[in-house]
Amino acid sequence: MTFLDLEDSVAPLEKEAARAKVVDAIKSLAWDDRVMCVRVNAWDTKWTYGDVIAVVEGSGERLDEIMLPKVTSAFEIKALDLLLTQVEANCGLPAGHIGIEAQIETTEGLINVEEICAASPRLETIVFGPADFAASMEMPILTGGVQIPEYPGDHFHYVFSKILMAGRANGLQVIDGPFLKIRELDSLRDYCARTRTLGYDGKWALHPDQVTVVNEVYSPTQEQFDKACAILDAYRQATEEDRQGAVMFGDEMIDEASRKMATKFIARGERAGLSRSR
Ligand code: GLV
Ligand code: MG
Repeated sequence: MTFLDLEDSVAPLEKEAARAKVVDAIKSLAWDDRVMCVRVNAWDTKWTYGDVIAVVEGSGERLDEIMLPKVTSAFEIKALDLLLTQVEANCGLPAGHIGIEAQIETTEGLINVEEICAASPRLETIVFGPADFAASMEMPILTGGVQIPEYPGDHFHYVFSKILMAGRANGLQVIDGPFLKIRELDSLRDYCARTRTLGYDGKWALHPDQVTVVNEVYSPTQEQFDKACAILDAYRQATEEDRQGAVMFGDEMIDEASRKMATKFIARGERAGLSRSR
């Protein structure tokens, strides 16, 4: 997925002019088959509706999603959903064509994340925004989304878990936001491991150098992929031929829950282009 930004990376005096640039980029550059998204300005500004109309009408079918930042309540998602329905009808797009990505990056958004994740069938992805969230919490830090050495633990652990649970309970993709120290690739790799381990699907990349690291960390290794395939084979043999629900796989017991875990690994590995070793 690639998103083009109209929000915090665009200076206020350039906000309106940026819309046409984004539309032009979507229409004229070769984007292969990736999901295309535009981040519009939040509902507490004066630009949201203008952004949505200009970008959706201008981009046509190639635009897949709108990202809404600083979502504080389910109403904001519903408002965007209603607006999108009208814009789609006006410009001949199929109803429901545009999906929504919602950024949770304020204290209110985190408190309401469960309702937010259930607010619209257009929702595809929930994204944590560590920089705005740190500001919203008034954390005494100047760089969002990096480890704080003085804190004996992970200062965002609760936040990561809460967003992940709300997202998964509603069948959404769950993504961690930016790592601002773009030259520190080893620290990025280390940081990615936190949300990867919890179960996140991925993390933003702000720079091409970050893409390689992020793709690597959030994809299963070949070894994990092969093990998952072998677990499925063993489980199928056990249940379908030997009529057993729990069997030994090497030195561990596997059962239906193991099948579910293995299936997730395989889906994720296939998305990353892996196939079983011979
Ligand atoms: C991203 O938008 C962030 O605030 O971290
Ligand atoms: Mg933000």
